[in-house]
Amino acid sequence: MDKIILITGGTGLIGTQLSKLLFDNGYEVRILSRSKNSLQNKNYEYYHWNIATKEIDISALKNVHYIIHLAGAGIADKRWTTARKKHILDSRVNGATLLLETLEQINHRPLKFIAASGIGFYGARTNTTIFKENTSPHNDFLGNTCKLWEQSSLTFKEAGIPTTILRTGIVLSKKGGALEKLCQTFKFRFASALGSGQQYMPWIHIDDLCRIYLRTITDIEFTGIYNAVAPAHVTNNEFTKALLRFHKNSVQLPNVPSSILKPLLGNMSAMVLQGSRVSSDKLENTGFKFQYNSLKKALEDLIK
Ligand SMILES: NC(=O)c1ccc[n+]([C@@H]2O[C@H](COP(=O)([O-])OP(=O)(O)OC[C@H]3O[C@@H](n4cnc5c(N)ncnc54)[C@H](OP(=O)(O)O)[C@@H]3O)[C@@H](O)[C@H]2O)c1
Repeated sequence: MDKIILITGGTGLIGTQLSKLLFDNGYEVRILSRSKNSLQNKNYEYYHWNIATKEIDISALKNVHYIIHLAGAGIADKRWTTARKKHILDSRVNGATLLLETLEQINHRPLKFIAASGIGFYGARTNTTIFKENTSPHNDFLGNTCKLWEQSSLTFKEAGIPTTILRTGIVLSKKGGALEKLCQTFKFRFASALGSGQQYMPWIHIDDLCRIYLRTITDIEFTGIYNAVAPAHVTNNEFTKALLRFHKNSVQLPNVPSSILKPLLGNMSAMVLQGSRVSSDKLENTGFKFQYNSLKKALEDLIK
């Protein structure tokens, strides 16, 4: 079995669960991290890089069969100042460039390069379209960021390395991420939809997402760009109601008006106030079966 996998950002929400899944499936997992003192898990080997200074431990890439590029500054972690926007983009694009340059330097070609992207590609807009993979990127911050992020991943393809890109929806996990944020108000026994509540929230259960990543490894033919979103489309109103069913002692309050969210979040408010449906057809047409194809099923698993 070809079995050495390098994961950039393997210490994050997706990377932590994915590393475990890959290790449990018999793969040797290497993690490329900015931290020299990452929480060391004895099952993995850790390597250091610094994208800004172009430092990288070359041994991370030696004999590697697959590279999964997840690293990048958190998109919703801080307000989108000009400097933050640049950092969000550079941490992804320059990371990919450094990986490819290093592979060329050591003259090594892995079997596949797999990279995250986001459904932000389709832009912060709410309309009736169900976006498919062949749609052009929207001309806003996330659309442009995803476009350039994907272009940097596609340089691996141009270099002859089969490439898969997963345009990922909101990842639902027990261990943080969006679901934790969405559940914060339940501490105060209420929930409110945001803005009009009509915006769609393309989502995916983390187990399904990790199974898609595993598929990219086990199925060499599985290349190209895929939306990694569950088939069930839900609006923010519907999502909020679904969450309330799991928090029986909480009440639904009126929607938070966009006039409150915009000054609080700045441009980033578009991320929570807008959203369209995204199609999972291409992925399902490859035979992939979602374990969590409805939000109810996903939340039953994630909220205890
Ligand atoms: N979670 C979602 O809902 C979601 C949705 C769509 C797309 N995605 C994308 O999928 C990827 C993984 O997502 P995630 O939720 O696992 O992210 P995460 O928890 O924020 O982890 C990302 C990892 O990237 C590394 N990183 C953080 N800032 C960095 C920087 N400035 N430069 C280089 N590396 C940096 C960190 O690893 P070290 O500290 O070890 O370096 C971190 O553990 C990201 O690119 C994200 O944009 C996620």
